[in-house]
Amino acid sequence: MHRYWKKFVAKKTGLAPGEKCLDLCTGTGDIGRAVLKYQPQASVTALDFSSEMLALARENQKKSRDTLRYLRGDAMAPPFPENHFDAVTVGYGLRNVLDLQVCLKNILSMLKPSGVLISLDVGKVGLPVIAELNQFYFFKIVPLIGKWLMPGQEMFDYLPHSSLEYPDQENLKRILLDVGFHQVDVFDFVFGASTVHVAYKAANT
Ligand SMILES: C[S@@+](CC[C@H](N)C(=O)[O-])C[C@H]1O[C@@H](n2cnc3c(N)ncnc32)[C@H](O)[C@@H]1O
Repeated sequence: MHRYWKKFVAKKTGLAPGEKCLDLCTGTGDIGRAVLKYQPQASVTALDFSSEMLALARENQKKSRDTLRYLRGDAMAPPFPENHFDAVTVGYGLRNVLDLQVCLKNILSMLKPSGVLISLDVGKVGLPVIAELNQFYFFKIVPLIGKWLMPGQEMFDYLPHSSLEYPDQENLKRILLDVGFHQVDVFDFVFGASTVHVAYKAANT
């Protein structure tokens, strides 16, 4: 399902030919590639601080022959000037940064007026019974499947536990507005277990 959600993120960039996008915490470049599929004439930079992930991403690039520009860097201190990007995307990344507010302020400053940030991450399920089922699935079943598919991988334990600290949909929306985004739309999938925030910078800043 994450492929569908990533396609959704790419579409929400609304990029026109020649416009610039930054995919933060790109990992192996999934979202950057989805953005290029959506707008093949966009200029997409894909940033991650893990050289191991970037090495895998470059391996992918040999097959896909995409035009992503990979860059090693920290989402807490991205090396770009103000008003530079038309869109910033981030998938399962904001949950990991050291200081969410500082990171969001940096993103806002890198965006051009009317630019857009799209973040895909885990969300909180609202309906109580489904929330219980989701907790069970996420905390018990997902780690088991993970251990079976990728023995020794901590990711499937880390993912649910890191989501406990991460703000829920409404709180993240409030934080985005507090740091200065002008408008924030929230799109929930699977009862809110997965969520996309689309945050716009004002036109007149
Ligand atoms: C769960 S992966 C998500 C990868 C990709 N965005 C996706 O949706 O498939 C999170 C990625 O964020 C990167 N990351 C975490 N904190 C970061 C930071 N402060 N700066 C840059 N990359 C970071 C990790 O190295 C990892 O590749």
